[in-house]
This record gives sequence, C-alpha cells and structure tokens, in this order.
Amino acid sequence: MNVLLCVTGGIAAYRACELVSLTVKRGHAVRVVMTRSAPTFVGPTTFEALSGHPVMTDTFADALAHIEWAKWANVAAVAPASANFLGKLACGLADDAPSTVLMALPRGRRVVLAPAMNTEMWLNPVVVRNLGWLADLGRYDIVAPTEKRLACGDVGPGGLAEPADVLARIEASAAG
Ligand SMILES: Cc1cc2nc3c(=O)[nH]c(=O)nc-3n(C[C@H](O)[C@H](O)[C@H](O)COP(=O)(O)O)c2cc1C
Repeated sequence: MNVLLCVTGGIAAYRACELVSLTVKRGHAVRVVMTRSAPTFVGPTTFEALSGHPVMTDTFADALAHIEWAKWANVAAVAPASANFLGKLACGLADDAPSTVLMALPRGRRVVLAPAMNTEMWLNPVVVRNLGWLADLGRYDIVAPTEKRLACGDVGPGGLAEPADVLARIEASAAG
C-alpha cells in the first residue's frame, strides 16, 4: 500500500517519525509531504531516511510532483494535523505542498486526520466546526487526540493519538 503522509507544524511532529517507521515495517511505502513550518520541528532528512523516499516541502520545486504523488497514494494521512491545517482543508485552500497534494487526491481515496494541539485550540469552536465540516464531507477519517499532560503543561485533550492507532486507521481507511 502507498501511504502519503502529510506532516504539519506542531510539537507532535516528532511522533510522525515513529508512524513512518511503523508503517514501513508493516511493508507499506511512505512518502512524506511537509508544511512550511513542519521542518521547524523535525527535519526532512529524518523522514527521508525513515521512508527511503525524497520528502516534498515545496510545491514548485518539481512542477507536476503534486499530481504524481496524489495519484501514487492509495491513502493519505495528516499526522499531526495542526489547527491551522484543518482550517485550510475545511476552507478548500491549497497554498502549500500538503494542501495542494491533498486537493489533487483522486476521488475515492480517503484521508486520515490525526489532530494534535493545545487543549484550548482543540476546544476552540472554530476548530470544532472545521472538523465537523470535514467529517461531513465523507472523505476524512478522524483519529481523536488523547487526553494527557501536553508539552505546554496543560492537562486535557489534544495529544496525538498513538502512532500504532493512527496506522490501524490508515490501513482500515485504505481498505475502504
Ligand atoms: C513550539 C510550538 C508548538 C506548536 N505546536 C502546535 C501544535 O501542537 N498544534 C497546532 O495546531 N499548532 C501548533 N503550533 C502553531 C503552529 O505551528 C502554527 O499555527 C503554524 O502556522 C502551523 O502551520 P502549518 O499548519 O502550515 O504547519 C505550535 C507553535 C509553536 C511555536
């Protein structure tokens, strides 16, 4: 199975490394696409080494790559999915590499969203609304965040779901 993994800018980006590693060990191919802020948290070199594929960070570096990568994917995932990125998806924006590839994803291919953020961000009504809109579209499968002590020190919902649970959802979504 070909898995397209979008990584956005949040503390939990480091856990996407574990997700890539687990997914590759399960025998799947992984290509990683990063938002502009994601490399602030984890460098593309780490994802290149773990996935064995080049990482896309710039839509314009290779003119048709966003279409080719979208066609390649049997399933896509966004982990961690930032509040900002969920808003962009909900509004239909395609202004960076991950949102552009996802916009070009062929019909019928599903997208797993694994949000991770501060509890107040997670409970912000606009984030709640955006996720509700996305869920209603029928293409997005949401893996709810866990409740724990977050990196910011707050205790509550917003932690990235366990990578093994995200992978299980990706496999289920790919199977339809
Ligand atoms: C140290 C730090 C940690 C952050 N962690 C998160 C996070 O876990 N979740 C989130 O939604 N935003 C987080 N942000 C804010 C995002 O990085 C910011 O909204 C950014 O514009 C997201 O861009 P992207 O969605 O294009 O990756 C964090 C910012 C900083 C400075």
